[in-house]
Amino acid sequence: MRPPLSPAIQQQEFNRATRGNWDAFAEHRERLAALLEQSVAPASRESLCILGAGNCNDLDMPRLVSQWSRIRLVDLDVEAMQAGIARQFHMRPPDQLELSACDVTGALEFCHERSHCPTRESLNKLGQALAVLPAVERLGERFSCVVSTCLLSQLTSIMRYAVGDSSPDLLGLIQMVRLQHLRTLAELTKSGGTMVALIDFVSSDTLPQLTDASASALPSLMEQALRERNFFTGMNPVVIRQLLNRPPLDSYWREPPQAVFPWRWNLGPRTYVVTALVGHRV
Ligand SMILES: C[S@@+](CC[C@H](N)C(=O)[O-])C[C@H]1O[C@@H](n2cnc3c(N)ncnc32)[C@H](O)[C@@H]1O
Repeated sequence: MRPPLSPAIQQQEFNRATRGNWDAFAEHRERLAALLEQSVAPASRESLCILGAGNCNDLDMPRLVSQWSRIRLVDLDVEAMQAGIARQFHMRPPDQLELSACDVTGALEFCHERSHCPTRESLNKLGQALAVLPAVERLGERFSCVVSTCLLSQLTSIMRYAVGDSSPDLLGLIQMVRLQHLRTLAELTKSGGTMVALIDFVSSDTLPQLTDASASALPSLMEQALRERNFFTGMNPVVIRQLLNRPPLDSYWREPPQAVFPWRWNLGPRTYVVTALVGHRV
């Protein structure tokens, strides 16, 4: 039997498989760029940090580079970022762009250990890793705007892979990685800055109407998915917004973070509903 792949290798394989999705991502890319323009005033566009940049298919880099003084792209897969940047800048990439290879959880090695050595000890090590915020130290600065590009759903699926779908420990791990991610976003955003967390929470696999739904039908489809509890475990945007609006996270925000109008993200074989939670730091 094939030994479990490390989560980092799995993510790299997934990135390689979706590298050619530039055209399919057009609507998603436009929505993200427009959301950043609405959320951050031109005079405040100093430093932008994007977590989960990967292939950069959801990032209109020339547009972002023309708007921001500095951009830091972060992903565990540096090769995907380099190839994504090379595709968008035929000349040398602009100097204001920096790529950082970083496991934002600091826990992937423990996920891997847990997946082939399912002991209480390996689970404890994983839990301890999720209790701290390694990306904050690793990146070493705070940003005017921090974006998570549908990274949380990847992190929750990595937890699922580490312990298996039927594990009684799965829900606790998902809750831990979710809180770690939200705390990381809040901490990386500098005072007066903006956090944008993209949340993909249900796909056409379980909500087939999504494939042909018009944009105006999305809010009611989203309501239906929430009512029927048809979403990925840990990705209910209502619950994530509640987490942002209560201790230990509520004190970060000037006013309670809000969800924006949902949109569709076409990932080839399936379509996702995405919403974003936007918060402005005190
Ligand atoms: C849904 S993809 C984001 C889409 C990507 N921006 C694109 O345009 O293709 C999620 C990204 O998160 C990265 N990722 C997954 N786990 C990570 C971790 N622990 N730390 C940093 N990046 C991670 C993956 O390598 C992948 O590039």
